[in-house]
Amino acid sequence: MRERSSSHLIDSYGRYMKKLRLSLLDACNFRCVYCMPEKAQFTPSKDYLKTEDLLRIVKNFVSFGVEEVRLTGGEPTLRKDWLVVAQKLSELPLRKLGLTTNGFNLHKSIEDLSRTQCQYINISIDSLRKEKFNSITRRPFYDDVMKSIFMAKEFGFNLKLNVVVMKSVNDDEVIDFVRFSQKYDIEVRFLETMNIGVARPHFEKWFIPAQSLINNIEAHFDWTKRDREADDTAFCYDLSGGGRIGFIASESQSFCQGCSRLRLDAKGVLRPCLFKEQGLSFKDISLEDYPKALSETMRLKPIEREKELAQPMYQVGG
Ligand code: 5AD
Ligand code: SF4
Repeated sequence: MRERSSSHLIDSYGRYMKKLRLSLLDACNFRCVYCMPEKAQFTPSKDYLKTEDLLRIVKNFVSFGVEEVRLTGGEPTLRKDWLVVAQKLSELPLRKLGLTTNGFNLHKSIEDLSRTQCQYINISIDSLRKEKFNSITRRPFYDDVMKSIFMAKEFGFNLKLNVVVMKSVNDDEVIDFVRFSQKYDIEVRFLETMNIGVARPHFEKWFIPAQSLINNIEAHFDWTKRDREADDTAFCYDLSGGGRIGFIASESQSFCQGCSRLRLDAKGVLRPCLFKEQGLSFKDISLEDYPKALSETMRLKPIEREKELAQPMYQVGG
C-alpha cells in the first residue's frame, strides 16, 4: 500500500475521497433527453483546463491520496487529446483508471486504449432497439455504440453498460437487457433517473425505483446478491446463467454516507458533490495551497442527498 501523504481527503464523517471523476470537457454530440437540451451551451474550448494543467492537478491529487480516476464529460472522447490524457494518467500509481463514454467513436481508438492502464469502461446504452435508442439520444449512432460495446468486450476491458430507466420510455426493455447481460456476459447497470437539470420537469413521470425493477427481474431469473463495498454506488447481482446486473438507486437509496468521490470539472473547479454547484478552482493554485483548498472543498461536502440540482448533468461531469 502506498503511504498517504495527508489526511486532507478525509472529511469530518470519516469519508475518504479516493475517487476522482475528471471531466475532460462539457460538450457532447448526443442529446440524451434526460441530460441535454437540444440547444446546449458548451464552455468555449479555450476555457478548458490545458492538458498540462489537468495532468499536473491530477498528479497532485494522487499525491494527496486519490487512488482512482474516471474520465467523463460531456463526452470525454470528443476532446482531441483524450487518448494522450489516458496514456499520461497511466503513468500514475492508480488502482483504477476508467472512462465513461457514449461509445459513438470508441471503436476507432479501442486498440490504442487497450495498451493503456485505462481498463474500466462504462458505455451508456438506454435501448437495445435502434429506433428507440436514436430517439432517446436524439442522434443516429446506435450501430457505432454497439460496435464499441462488442469491441470493448473482445479486447478484454472491464466493461459495464449504463441504462437510465424511464417509465413508459424504456422500462419495457429491462428483461431484454438482463438477457443481453446473460448472453454476452456483460454487466448491465440500471440507473434511476436523477432529478437533475433537464430531467427535472419529467422526473415524476419518468422515475421508477430500482426495487420495482428488482421485483420484475426476480420473477424471471435466478441471481445472487453480491457484497457491496461501503462506497459502491451500485449494488449488484450475479445471474445464475452468467452476466451481472447492477442498480444505481441514487434517488430511492442514496449512497452519500459512504461517498468517496470528488469531481473536477473541465475548467478546473473541484466540486465536493454532484449536487453542489459550489467548488474551488485548482487551476492556478500552487501545491502549498492544496491542503487548505482540499479541506475547504471537503467542508462543502453534504452528508445527505440534496433533493435536486438545477444545473445540467453534462456541465458537472457524468
Ligand atoms: N439521471 C440519471 N443518469 C443520468 N446521466 C446523465 N443524466 C442523468 C440523469 N438525469 C448518466 C448517463 C451516463 C452517465 C454519464 O450519467 O446516462 O450513464
Ligand atoms: Fe451526452 Fe452522456 Fe449526456 Fe447522453 S448522457 S447527452 S451521451 S453526456
